[in-house]
Amino acid sequence: MQKKEEGTGKLWGGRFKQSASPIMERIGESVSFDQKLYKEDLEGSRAHAKMLHKIGILNAEELKQILEGLSQVESEIESGNFKFSSELEDIHMHIESRLTELKGEVGKKLHTARSRNDQVAQDTRLYVRNRIEEILDRLESLRKALYTRAGENVDTIIPGYTHLQVAQPVRASHFLLAYFWMFTRDAEFFRFAQESANLLVLGSGAMAGVNYQNDRDFLASELRTNGISPNSMDAVASRDHLLQFLFAATQTMLHASRFCEDIILYSSQEFGLIRLPDSLTTGSSIMPQKKNPDIAELIRGKSARVTGNLNHLIGLLKGLPLTYNRDLQEDKLAVFDAVETVLISLEGLEAMVSEMQFRPERGERSLKEGFATATDLADFLVGEKKIAFRTAHELVGRLVSECVERKENLFTVPEEVRIKISSHFSGEEYQKAVSLELSADKKASYGGTARSRQLEQLELAKKSLESSSKH
Ligand code: ARG
Repeated sequence: MQKKEEGTGKLWGGRFKQSASPIMERIGESVSFDQKLYKEDLEGSRAHAKMLHKIGILNAEELKQILEGLSQVESEIESGNFKFSSELEDIHMHIESRLTELKGEVGKKLHTARSRNDQVAQDTRLYVRNRIEEILDRLESLRKALYTRAGENVDTIIPGYTHLQVAQPVRASHFLLAYFWMFTRDAEFFRFAQESANLLVLGSGAMAGVNYQNDRDFLASELRTNGISPNSMDAVASRDHLLQFLFAATQTMLHASRFCEDIILYSSQEFGLIRLPDSLTTGSSIMPQKKNPDIAELIRGKSARVTGNLNHLIGLLKGLPLTYNRDLQEDKLAVFDAVETVLISLEGLEAMVSEMQFRPERGERSLKEGFATATDLADFLVGEKKIAFRTAHELVGRLVSECVERKENLFTVPEEVRIKISSHFSGEEYQKAVSLELSADKKASYGGTARSRQLEQLELAKKSLESSSKH
């Protein structure tokens, strides 16, 4: 251990006569979670050291020593040989302190023209920038899986719902692509948050700037940021980019959760529209017949954590005076948790998307029992028989009500019953008007569920995948 200031054992201990009480240490430490920032902290420190050399604060030998020391710290951390202790508070102190142990006095020069306030703000920005890249990769492969499964299921007809009541027949591709577009927008949202995080704040010092002619252009180019913060107070105090990251994470998890809700419902005995493979479900310890959609339920549950993380940061920032306040140490907990939760959820969702099987025979049953083509029959009266829509609606409504009374559906109800309601409800024409398959194809408006529109939509999805992989 390097020689510490007497009495306190802290790198900042000069003005202190008493050492920190155990509760100060326990409540103050963040290394138990911010050690996740070690790579970004090293990256920031390397850039900072090079900048100090460039402006003449470190000579070439000193820079070399510092860079060597930082590399050694990196390998110690990565091989699991690094000693973490709450006494040294956070990852920044750990790295600086170990550097000084390894390289002596020169290590103590690294913190020139830098504060932990700009340091941690920069590390977190780099971290978010890097992890969003992983999230974007995951979103991309989920979108690919949705695209592939949609292509395979253009001719699978399933019920579409409103109010969770059978509404109209749709192609399963349409259902899958609905989620494809949601995750496409999520990816755009993450890119926006990434862009916003990618700003140089290092060089702002504690909050007012620093007493050195630092070279922030150099730092920006070393750290590959897209801009430089123009105000040091804003730089150390603001966390907008983290809010944006958590908004994007929340939106993504809300989409994932809704999808999971559909999967949970559709795989139930009552709906029976999809089947999940054994490998992605669990059994019950007491009920031998059970096969539970746990992944979907867990993702639905995890979405609540991420909305909680967003609320955590909102609460943290509200009413916080300028500039840095120690409360901000807690921002990372929300961000780290959201990163891991989004990543694992997207992975779980993709596994289900890739392996779930539709059961069109069950879809057909619900569609028939749910009178899903009643609107089509009314539209047939309008289009072919020039009957006003309200009147057509009334006639079909009467037919449905007659079917319900007789425990029949539009396909089983005898013709003599139908023609008593309208002479048009007869023959081949009637059969075509209520057909499930034809119903879907009549929805040929742009963005509709007709086969031709599905092929067109698949083409758009393909283009969207191609353009996002170029990013
Ligand atoms: N661990 C702190 C954080 O995460 C680093 C900054 C501490 N700054 C300070 N002035 N105590 O926010």
